[in-house]
Amino acid sequence: MCAQSSRKWWAVAIRTVLRMGDPRLLEQARAVDSFASPELLARIADMEETMHHLDGAGLAAPQIGVALRVVIFGFDENPRYPEAGSVPYTVLINPVLTPLSDAIEEGWEGCLSVPGLRGSVPRWQHLHYRGFDPSGRVIERSVEGFHARVVQHECDHLDGILYPMRIRDMRTFGFVDELMGEDTRDVRGLGESGHSA
Ligand code: NI
Repeated sequence: MCAQSSRKWWAVAIRTVLRMGDPRLLEQARAVDSFASPELLARIADMEETMHHLDGAGLAAPQIGVALRVVIFGFDENPRYPEAGSVPYTVLINPVLTPLSDAIEEGWEGCLSVPGLRGSVPRWQHLHYRGFDPSGRVIERSVEGFHARVVQHECDHLDGILYPMRIRDMRTFGFVDELMGEDTRDVRGLGESGHSA
């Protein structure tokens, strides 16, 4: 399952996404200390290719077995779920998250490392994040709602945290086709098809 891209001089590969149970998903990832290196850019290209291939909303480097503090995320607005809005495509390195209020919001999440399952996860509603792009330029944003949720989900991967570890009411955790029942809109959000991260 390899894809060659004419856009890059290196071979871009769709990588296998590690699944929950693999001990590498529980590790603390280390900070990137060298920006714009060919190795870093190659790993990011693999992440992009893998996320797009799987139609994900985001991906963290540890999910492809790379223990670096790198996450990617972003998607266009889906007309079926306009409340999710769009999130600009972003590569975020060495992120630091700071909640901007005490407000906590429950929302559905899925994860490419936990395929087929969904759960309701509490997240900070308003969030400031700061990090670097692949060239080492600072990225700084204040966000809320779904954008804030995606960033928290991805950055949790850098600390070995998978979303099921944050679920407060385990009765909300289950297989998406069972949870959806007759009304698929009940389990929208990050867990919506195409919005696993
Ligand atoms: Ni995930």
